[in-house]
Amino acid sequence: MKQLHKQSSANHTPSTQTTPPYSPKTLKHPRSLPRSINYILKEQRLLFILVGILIGSTFFIIQPTLSRLSPSDSHSSIPRSFSLSNRESLSNPYQVSKNYGDANKAVARIPVGIGRKRLRIVVTGGAGFVGSHLVDKLLARGDDVIVIDNFFTGRKENVMHHFGNPRFELIRHDVVEPILLEVDQIYHLACPASPVHYKYNPVKTIISLTNVMGTLNMLGLAKRIGAKFLLTSTSEVYGDPLEHPQKETYWGHVNPIGVRSCYDEGKRTAETLTMDYHRGAGVEVRIARIFNTYGPRMCLDDGRVVSNFVAQAIRKQPLTVYGDGKQTRSFQYVSDLVDGLVALMEGEHVGPFNLGNPGEFTMLELAEVVKETIDSSATIEFKPNTADDPHKRKPDISKAKELLNWEPKKSLREGLPLMVADFRNRILNDDEGKGNK
Ligand SMILES: NC(=O)c1ccc[n+]([C@@H]2O[C@H](COP(=O)([O-])OP(=O)(O)OC[C@H]3O[C@@H](n4cnc5c(N)ncnc54)[C@H](O)[C@@H]3O)[C@@H](O)[C@H]2O)c1
Repeated sequence: MKQLHKQSSANHTPSTQTTPPYSPKTLKHPRSLPRSINYILKEQRLLFILVGILIGSTFFIIQPTLSRLSPSDSHSSIPRSFSLSNRESLSNPYQVSKNYGDANKAVARIPVGIGRKRLRIVVTGGAGFVGSHLVDKLLARGDDVIVIDNFFTGRKENVMHHFGNPRFELIRHDVVEPILLEVDQIYHLACPASPVHYKYNPVKTIISLTNVMGTLNMLGLAKRIGAKFLLTSTSEVYGDPLEHPQKETYWGHVNPIGVRSCYDEGKRTAETLTMDYHRGAGVEVRIARIFNTYGPRMCLDDGRVVSNFVAQAIRKQPLTVYGDGKQTRSFQYVSDLVDGLVALMEGEHVGPFNLGNPGEFTMLELAEVVKETIDSSATIEFKPNTADDPHKRKPDISKAKELLNWEPKKSLREGLPLMVADFRNRILNDDEGKGNK
């Protein structure tokens, strides 16, 4: 080995001695250029390169035009922004379902990232009277809406005009049971709201927890997923009020053991739970105290005074007035309420906020307006008053005016004919209450 090693090192020495003097490499350059050109020209390589460039540039020129024409692409970009046609359709909730296809086309031209973020929103009780109008508004402004309803008082017909809309989902579910969904906002409306329905099953109304367990489940969901939560409470939390008109600071005058208390106390408990989740768990909450509301899609025969009078006048029956008819109520049209709920959810204030129309009517005055609108020959029938019926009810809405910049716009004489048209259609077609829910 030693010998070998010596030999190799011995071999090295003479080779260094014979190395020619350094010559610059630039001499090689003129020879390599024609060689690479030769390489490209051989075997039609140049032709392949040119064809490749041509295909590539054609794709980049044509692709943007194709994407503008493609209907599937316009669908995929709907939600990212708030289109002009969406905003226009807010003024007429009943056009929404027919227009969403057109809205999609308009949106496709708005660049991604511009405009309002599309929200996922749950509306519990969304197949009911107020809920279905709220759903119309939320879909019209471009959000995704999931309705949860057990159809106790709600109807599929109230939302079926959205069935083809990919941004709408309907889940048959009782809020008394927990549910897990990923959403940004929860409007919690699920609750039998009319005396006929809540007196029919008072335990279901309060302990059923529709008001207690239902609200608890929805607050739990809001906490888990970090969603905003809005509770639709009621003017019934003021009971038979000793203060008039009612301000949000008034604590109420409620009979805790009366026939109406399943509803009144149920909603008061729901408010308590809502505030406890806000203070204790940091959930972002809103509370609306809703006063009497009327409009299309109200339940027929639900025992509420406006729907009673309207249905009776259309059926040519006497209008039933309980007591002397001098008790007062204020009536707000449903689109005003929906605007108030959305303003509350989007605003910065927890509430509670009174949402109602301060215009005050006695039951006899309301009966006169209904007669003027439907049938001037209608008669009035007096019956004994029901227990715990409040004598006066009128909201003070100065807090909502100031902090939400909201106030109702439609008078009773403007709103009533819209409700009458819907009731007439449903009563004359007689399509309800026959198991077609
Ligand atoms: N309309 C009014 O004048 C008025 C006044 C004050 C408060 N509110 C409140 O507004 C909300 C909506 O009232 P509305 O007039 O639309 O009543 P509604 O009866 O028409 O709607 C309530 C909806 O909730 C659903 N629901 C009831 N219990 C449920 C449960 N356990 N699980 C799932 N869904 C359930 C019903 O099927 C229905 O679709 C209610 O919370 C009510 O208390 C309404």
